[in-house]
Amino acid sequence: MKRLIAEREKARLGGGEKRIEAQHNKGKFTARERIDMLLDEGSFEEYDMFVTHRTTDFDLDKEQYLSDGVITGHGTIDGRTVYIFSQDFTVLGGSLSETNALKICKIMDQSMKVGAPLIGINDSGGARIQEGVRSLAGYASIFQRNIMASGVIPQISAIFGPCAGGAVYSPALTDFIVMTDKTSCMFVTGPKVVKTVTGETISDEDLGGASMHSTKSGVTHFVGADEKESILLIRKLLSYLPQNNLEEPPLSVCDDPPDRIDENLNTIIPEKPSIPYDVKDIIHSIADNGEFLEVQRQYARNIVIGFVTFNGISTGIVANQPNYLAGCLDINASRKSARFVRFCDAFNIPIVTLVDVPGFLPGSAQEFDGIITNGAKLIFAYGEATVPKITVILRKAYGGAYCVMSSKQLRGDVNYAWPTAEIAVMGPKGAIEVLYNRELKTLSNEEERARFVAENASEYREKFSNPYEAAKYGYIDDIIEPRNTRFRIIRALQTLSTKKDSNPPKKHSTLPL
Ligand code: HXC
Repeated sequence: MKRLIAEREKARLGGGEKRIEAQHNKGKFTARERIDMLLDEGSFEEYDMFVTHRTTDFDLDKEQYLSDGVITGHGTIDGRTVYIFSQDFTVLGGSLSETNALKICKIMDQSMKVGAPLIGINDSGGARIQEGVRSLAGYASIFQRNIMASGVIPQISAIFGPCAGGAVYSPALTDFIVMTDKTSCMFVTGPKVVKTVTGETISDEDLGGASMHSTKSGVTHFVGADEKESILLIRKLLSYLPQNNLEEPPLSVCDDPPDRIDENLNTIIPEKPSIPYDVKDIIHSIADNGEFLEVQRQYARNIVIGFVTFNGISTGIVANQPNYLAGCLDINASRKSARFVRFCDAFNIPIVTLVDVPGFLPGSAQEFDGIITNGAKLIFAYGEATVPKITVILRKAYGGAYCVMSSKQLRGDVNYAWPTAEIAVMGPKGAIEVLYNRELKTLSNEEERARFVAENASEYREKFSNPYEAAKYGYIDDIIEPRNTRFRIIRALQTLSTKKDSNPPKKHSTLPL
């Protein structure tokens, strides 16, 4: 008994007090402190506390630490089981050894059998250099398990320190990444290698900090100002997710009346079609208590994605954002939203799509970088999804973008439009320029051409820039008063809760990656 207490005490000290102090001085918590903050109090069951590495090369046998640099086990968050690993930077920089990988794989295997989410807290110098290929094999074993778990259990990666080299690929294979501002970084090759190979001088933060990954690469889905905030984000995120792909998401308690009407919505769309507005105002207005957990908030801001509840029903939101790039679909917005739609579909989370999109972003940059292949991802994701899909066209649904955004023909279950909806092949100005190309050529000056376009555009607008033409063909199930949107969505979600749909049997699709 005495020995057990002493050994546990030793294990809890990780790499020792000095290194714990150094960790704290960097504004970081230790691996165990992070677990304590994340899990419900007293719920953590630790595995493999007494594991040590088996390496003798480079005198490493003289450096033995119980737990070998990673803390693993399971516990609960809001009473629901999660499996967790947390890398301990105080032990050999949290580097991944063979035994360390075995510990992680053990809990990954069990999380799959139990059907509970997996959370990985990363804070590591990467592969344990002294172990060579055994460490690399450890990474590959983890990757394989990440892949098998994908779409079966939710996988969340927290990056609370360095995450370098091939180590970035385990988080990249998981569903959500949460980084902490200023104290975390992720890169495949660090600043030193970059300098040697390309001559470029760049800091850790600029190359792979949370700010870069949340705005430029889109690698991270959430950024916490500090570790505490990052941990709260993980707990919040899990509240929207089921334990696994065979379960429904939890139904939360809702004190917001389902039939709450918001008169402001009737006038939220500006009179002039070219004036933007913030689609998030609409999301906040219709969601339970105005709460919205936005995903990838600062990346591809022309599309907004995230989680809400409607009368307690966990729901994914995809919404074009007229406030940014006029809500155009571009490569990044397509990839961002396609991935989100696929996540929701994999985990039985219904999708509500709010549409105001003038089309795909034109330009050689988009074409050169493959807007064709990338735009196809979003079409594919919507068309493949079998969860309940509710669409509300708020204003513009032009051209290919009409088809993409959860249209009736991509198996949209309930498709509504506001009276302000404009559903057409293209906007009035572009349409007149194509239809009256010959007549416009005969006009001698710009002023005359502009007048001609304006005159004929009004006829076009009358015909197509409204929802009635689409409703006439049944492509829109109903035209609804904006103020009733919350109630109509909730009723549709409740009706669709028993929806069953499927795709033909196949090994897997050939999604245009
Ligand atoms: C063994 C390591 C280590 C590693 C750090 N340490 N990284 N030990 N293997 N990969 C040890 C250090 O020797 C040191 O030991 C302690 O951890 C803390 O490291 P410091 O350098 O003092 O800390 P800091 O200044 O904060 O810098 C952290 C760091 C740096 C940026 C992560 O340590 C670093 O650059 N490490 C190497 C990163 C790297 O190139 N890894 C391999 C990537 S390739 P003491 O005893 O002094 O406390 C890779 C391939 C994976 O991972 C492939 C998968 C497909």
